[in-house]
Amino acid sequence: MLAIIGGSGLTQLSNLDVSHRRVARTPYGEPSGALTCGSICGNEVVFLARHGYGHAIPPHAVNYRANIWALKEHGATHIVSVASVGAVRDGLNPGDMVIPHQIIDYTWGRKSTYFDGNGTPVVHVDFTEPYDAALRRQLILAAGRAGIDIKDGGVYGATQGPRLETAAEICRYEREGVDLVGMTGMPEAVLARELAIPYAAINLVANHAAGRGESSNGIHFERLEQVLQEAMGRVRCVIEQLVGCYASGNEAVASRQG
Ligand code: HPA
Repeated sequence: MLAIIGGSGLTQLSNLDVSHRRVARTPYGEPSGALTCGSICGNEVVFLARHGYGHAIPPHAVNYRANIWALKEHGATHIVSVASVGAVRDGLNPGDMVIPHQIIDYTWGRKSTYFDGNGTPVVHVDFTEPYDAALRRQLILAAGRAGIDIKDGGVYGATQGPRLETAAEICRYEREGVDLVGMTGMPEAVLARELAIPYAAINLVANHAAGRGESSNGIHFERLEQVLQEAMGRVRCVIEQLVGCYASGNEAVASRQG
């Protein structure tokens, strides 16, 4: 079953036919909100709003461990994260949709592992490729079927937030190879890997990063909201095309096609 974690601008999926909501408890505390269970085009899906349903949980305070654990325990076999980002790389513009392929983690102080000692053996997971290749490919194919332009690849820089970056920080990130900045990609991706759940992301460019393009004199928040609202319609179309591949019993189809 496919799980979708929605970020800013996607606190609900309007094409989700909701059957029930489930309050999940985990050994790591409470997730951001109840799991919204239902189907899209007849395929079972579970949805979770990363920042809570009232958008009240800032990126550094999200209980990522509880979120991923609750989705796994609910039966999620694959996770697609939807998150807005700022564009660092030239040529990326507000409204663009990107399937990132790499991560640089600049966050700190977040609970970022399930293997934090406490009597358990030390575990190191392989994170060479932080996103699942087959799920990335399925997202790109789904976008193609929906007739939606999507960019294959990008280096996601995970920043701490909740403030936006300075122009100098963006220059530094660019020198280090970052294409997109966002505040929630880590530790979400590594926690999914620790629980062996294939994970990929759809990043929506909401704005040029600080000091760049339209943001050369500051970030224009009203414009950012407009961009996200428009783009979320396209995200829903991609997800509609994707869900069939991950309905119970069809996962093998997705990996064969991938
Ligand atoms: N920086 C970090 N996170 C973001 C941005 C940004 O410019 N835009 C949307 N999420």
